[in-house]
Amino acid sequence: MSKKLIIKTAEQIEGIKASSILAAQTLKNVEPFVKVGVSTKYLNDICNQFMRDNQAIPATLGYRGYPAETCISVNDVVCHGIPGAYTLREGDILNIDVTTILNGYYGDTSKMYRVGQISEYAQKLIDVTKQSLAVGISQCKAGNRIGFIGNAIDKYIKNYGYSIVYEFCGHGVGLKFHEEPEVGHNRTEDLGHEMVPGMTFTIEPMINAGKARVKIDKKDKWTARTIDGKLSAQYEHTICITNSEPYILTDLDNEFPVPKSVF
Ligand code: MF3
Ligand code: CO
Ligand code: CO
Repeated sequence: MSKKLIIKTAEQIEGIKASSILAAQTLKNVEPFVKVGVSTKYLNDICNQFMRDNQAIPATLGYRGYPAETCISVNDVVCHGIPGAYTLREGDILNIDVTTILNGYYGDTSKMYRVGQISEYAQKLIDVTKQSLAVGISQCKAGNRIGFIGNAIDKYIKNYGYSIVYEFCGHGVGLKFHEEPEVGHNRTEDLGHEMVPGMTFTIEPMINAGKARVKIDKKDKWTARTIDGKLSAQYEHTICITNSEPYILTDLDNEFPVPKSVF
């Protein structure tokens, strides 16, 4: 049974945009609190408070039993790190991923943070991962296929000797947390759905310094770590396909041009 791909109306896109901006503001708001000695639980609570203060509900809490309001993934944690007692150390890198529900609409974004001075090796991984998201976004035009995204990211990452996680994907988002289509980040011959104006989905490449494989924590059943203990990085935006360039709904810093219209 194939699930239906949802094309959003202009009104729905406005709602998803508002939620997406709030998610991005949540990430910006927590930035000054990321310091040596603070726990990931503390950072989660700062994000939770910000979302609640702005009339939003964190989508992750209770999602398939997930126990927190954010995902915070430190160093070799690829994704779905559960905030807890771990206190940040000089040189750590971490991803904070927030998904807001605002007036029933979902916005999903994540970015990397640095704790104090980090190694050049870690900084390079962060920079390349951020750029891989931009490379994926560059494929987002009506008439292109979803598979172009992974093909472009794969071609870009090949230059660096890193690997792309294949066990987690981007996804349609907006009216629900995870909708059609699935958005892979790896090379594929199955090009999938054609992009059409009004589609909203995430691109969220996870790039590993070493091997691509991940292992899920046996105790908490969520935390995904690299199989070899090497670093992993991730960036995520929520994107809307338009009749011209893509509209990056979580782009609080105006790193991407804003198109004139969607339809
Ligand atoms: N926000 C994540 C994503 O980008 C999903 C987290 S699901 C959770 O799709 F259950 F782990 F919270
Ligand atoms: Co997502
Ligand atoms: Co996310």
